[in-house]
Amino acid sequence: MMKRLVIGILFTMVVMTGAVAQRFQISSPSGITKLRVENNEQLVYSFSYKGKGVIAPSSLGISFSRPSVSLHHFSIIKIDSITTDETWAPVWGEVKQIRNRYKELSLTLKSSQEILVKVIFRVFDDGLGFRYEFPEQSSLKHFVVSDELTQFKVTGDHKTFWIPGDYDSNEYPYNTTRLSKVDAIAASNAEPDIAVKSPIGPSAVQTPLMMKSQDGLYINIHEAALLNYPAMNLVLDKLSYTFTSQLVPDAVGNKAYLQTPAKTPWRTIIVSDKATEILSSKLILNLNEPTKLEDTSWIKPQKFVGMWWEMHVGKANWDLASKKHGANTENVKHYIDFASRFGFDGVLVEGWNQGWEDWFGNWKEDVFDFITPYPDYDLNYLSQYANEKGLRLIMHHETSGSVTNYERWMDKAFQFMNDHNITTVKTGYVGKIIPRGEHHDSQWMINHYNRVIQKAATYKIMVDAHEPVRPTGLHRTFPNYLASEAARGSEFNNAPALGITPEHTTILPFTRLMGGPMDFTPGLFHFKLNQFEPSRTTEVRTTLAKQLALFITMYSPLQMAADLPENYEKHLDAFQFIVDVPVDWDDTKIIEAEPGDYLTIARKQKNKNNWFVGAITDENERVLNLSFNFLDAGKKYHAVIYRDAENADWNTNPEAYVIEKKTITSKTKLKILLAKSGGCAISIVDSAH
Ligand code: NOJ
Ligand code: CA
Repeated sequence: MMKRLVIGILFTMVVMTGAVAQRFQISSPSGITKLRVENNEQLVYSFSYKGKGVIAPSSLGISFSRPSVSLHHFSIIKIDSITTDETWAPVWGEVKQIRNRYKELSLTLKSSQEILVKVIFRVFDDGLGFRYEFPEQSSLKHFVVSDELTQFKVTGDHKTFWIPGDYDSNEYPYNTTRLSKVDAIAASNAEPDIAVKSPIGPSAVQTPLMMKSQDGLYINIHEAALLNYPAMNLVLDKLSYTFTSQLVPDAVGNKAYLQTPAKTPWRTIIVSDKATEILSSKLILNLNEPTKLEDTSWIKPQKFVGMWWEMHVGKANWDLASKKHGANTENVKHYIDFASRFGFDGVLVEGWNQGWEDWFGNWKEDVFDFITPYPDYDLNYLSQYANEKGLRLIMHHETSGSVTNYERWMDKAFQFMNDHNITTVKTGYVGKIIPRGEHHDSQWMINHYNRVIQKAATYKIMVDAHEPVRPTGLHRTFPNYLASEAARGSEFNNAPALGITPEHTTILPFTRLMGGPMDFTPGLFHFKLNQFEPSRTTEVRTTLAKQLALFITMYSPLQMAADLPENYEKHLDAFQFIVDVPVDWDDTKIIEAEPGDYLTIARKQKNKNNWFVGAITDENERVLNLSFNFLDAGKKYHAVIYRDAENADWNTNPEAYVIEKKTITSKTKLKILLAKSGGCAISIVDSAH
């Protein structure tokens, strides 16, 4: 017997040997993707793109330790379906307007234990989002999640860009292997500077996870709107290519403490047959809630320099007792002068507050108070001096993992920032989270990161978090959350072993950046990092032109020009690109991309008819064939091209660059050589302005 009911979805009931299997099918608004759900012994979903399998039938479910139940056998009590098509404007971003268009299928289910659960699916042309909801009900009030049973079974031995599963760190180099070769322990062992090894096991990986199938599909799995819940790792069964979610536990092994009504984050699958469309997908942002902030006028994208890299490369130190304390009044004044000369918005100062003698490894709870400057740092004078010069200091709050201490000080610390007219804070969570040993990506810490962002908003403070959980698009809801680290950033150029590989920045946009902007800190102009300590062997593995291009290819509304003023002074002609490049955009065109290989992006400056292009390549040199058809037809533009010289090479000749000025139109086509780990940056100014 077969019955069909059409409620914007295709609904089929099939009676098979006595049991009733209910099947649903729903296509995306343009019919490009298709979701199938089947409820039989188990609730199962599958997903396809242009008729090709993306997710093979995979089970859904969740289990609790209190009450002790496993919810995976359901009867369907209600089916709803809606279509949404709306356009919204982000406070800042890569584009001016974002279209949110999907069909939603909402199933209200009753488990065999009489617990109500909803599963909401949103089917987009570029992917799928789904989440579990637990409505208010007499049979479930407070509950403890022990495991989410969500699976993602992919359809083959895909090429995969992955980092090991972890509860605390995401600062890994990427591995590129087939799924059958994922081996997280071996890969992390290859990297001696990583303290935390995957505690989950050899086939656990983190999201955003990027894959490419043999039949040419690009598939990205991640999550959206991670609130009041732990982050998700994925454990792979290599025989069936099935990932099962593995939530980050708390200090005693529980996953999430919830109270009805409650909902999980969205599980996201972004798919396309074009790599460029993965990068332009707005699915994760669309699954996040709009901001509730009424006044967002104080939230400003920014470019900054900082008293920072000189400590990482050994010129200075954070602590006063070291006798080379970097954050002294004179030195910071020098940074302010430099920043003001070139029109930067801010100067980050690390090591300004007392406690750095003792900050790492001792697990002291009260090492910092966030309001007491070192005696050689005249904060009153410097914050005023910065304001007079038209910019602001950026405050640094390293918590050294002592999060309860930070929560106790937070109000005073933010008030202290208000008193000094400082509107941006860089937070940090280096080391073990004390006192209870929570994991960085646990529910407890997720709530902490989000509380900091919301509390900061009440003081009109913007946040850049280091060592937090990987982002999940929450900057739509909390637009003062400008950026975060949450991956291996440029500071790892100074790490032994792999450091930042030439391909790293061609992978990050497909992985870490899918969830939100990164404070990567590009713009290094000095490549052998033994400038101050001759015994150092670390080096930056790019050309100088590629460092410029990263300002475009690594999207962030908060961009640091990371190098020392004296290193910029040696190349002021190239530095001009960093001076000119904006940090907020009306439009973005992903011109060409292949994860692990290359990436070219053009972006249109906010409220101006100027464009900026960045192109990068991995360890292989390439010829970039760039056509400028994104420009207005019939207009003339002044282009300044910053490219690798013919003899440039990251290893032997990173500083060899050429700067060319040209008049171009939408018909111009250029052939540009990208050196090994090289790049090209172009500023294009409408000549009518
Ligand atoms: C790690 C951060 O990523 C880095 O930027 C900072 O300088 C150090 N911690 C010290 O807080
Ligand atoms: Ca870090």
